[in-house]
Parts: sequence; C-alpha cells; structure tokens
Amino acid sequence: MRVAKAVCPGSFDPPTNGHMDVIRRSLSLFDTVLVAVIRNLSKRPMFSSEERVEMLCDLLAEEPRVEVVAFDGLLVDLAKARGVNVIVKGLRAVSDFDYELQMAQMNHGLSGIDTVFIPTSPEHAYLSSSLVKEVGSLGGSVSGLVPGRVAELMKERWSE
Ligand code: PNS
Repeated sequence: MRVAKAVCPGSFDPPTNGHMDVIRRSLSLFDTVLVAVIRNLSKRPMFSSEERVEMLCDLLAEEPRVEVVAFDGLLVDLAKARGVNVIVKGLRAVSDFDYELQMAQMNHGLSGIDTVFIPTSPEHAYLSSSLVKEVGSLGGSVSGLVPGRVAELMKERWSE
C-alpha cells in the first residue's frame, strides 16, 4: 500500500493557531506529516530557525506521526530526499490563491509532486504571523491567535 507522506512548509515566525490547525488536519488526511521550517527568511526573523523548530516540536510532541525539520534550498529537493509525495498548504482567502497556485505549479513542474490545499478554518482566516507580530509588538493581546507557549515566548522576546 502506498504511504501518503505530506510536507507542511512555512516560515512559522511564529507558529500561529492557523498553522497548527492545518498541520493537525493534515494528520487526518496523510500517514505522516513533515513540518518544514524555512531557515533563511528574507526579513529579519523574530525567532531563529532553531527556535521555530523547537517551538513546533514542543507543540506537536504528542503526535508520533509528525517530524519537524529546518530546511534551505528548494522545498521539492527536501520532499524528494524525504520520500514525501504531497505538499500541503493552507488557503485563507482568494488573495492567497494566485501565488499559491503559481508555487504549486512550479513545484509540480520541478518534481511531479502535487500540492493539496486545505481551506483554513474560518476562525483562523484572518491570521498571519506578520499581523500577530504587529499586534503584539504594539501592545495588543496575542492570546487566542497563537498557542499559549508561543505567546509567552513572544512576550519574553519583546521584553529583552
Ligand atoms: O510561511 P510562508 O512564508 O508562506 O512559507 C513560504 C515557503 C517556505 C513555503 C516558500 O517560500 C518555499 O517553499 N520556499 C522554499 C524555496 C522554494 O522551494 N522556492 C520555490 C517555490 S515554487
């Protein structure tokens, strides 16, 4: 029987409740889920890739079918090296679609690996890591937007 191995890639700077929702829903569709944290971000990250990996590992510690890794380079190279056969992306709104479709087509052209889109749950549709950082850095509450442990780490980071 073919094992369905998915990869959920992203910046995860920081992981939001929207990310966690997509990862957990991927687990009900696929046998294993590789959460792939991009190492180098174009803008200065709030958390290093090691910190982002550690946060996700802690949040997903109870899920034996999940592995979290950091990666550089092409996502499809990681996917091929790890025997992954599907890329999973969350879609929040139509505004996400154009760019996500372009990436899905490019990734398929490069590797033959398909992308499956999971519609974000409506309660998370307006969430993005950038907005969460903006709200938190201006003194707003991020509880309910990110997992509790992530909210604590964000507060610690701003107080440094
Ligand atoms: O959380 P993000 O910022 O939307 O994640 C974007 C990510 C990491 C999924 C995307 O930038 C990516 O796949 N980068 C790896 C480099 C790559 O494969 N580029 C070609 C994409 S078609």
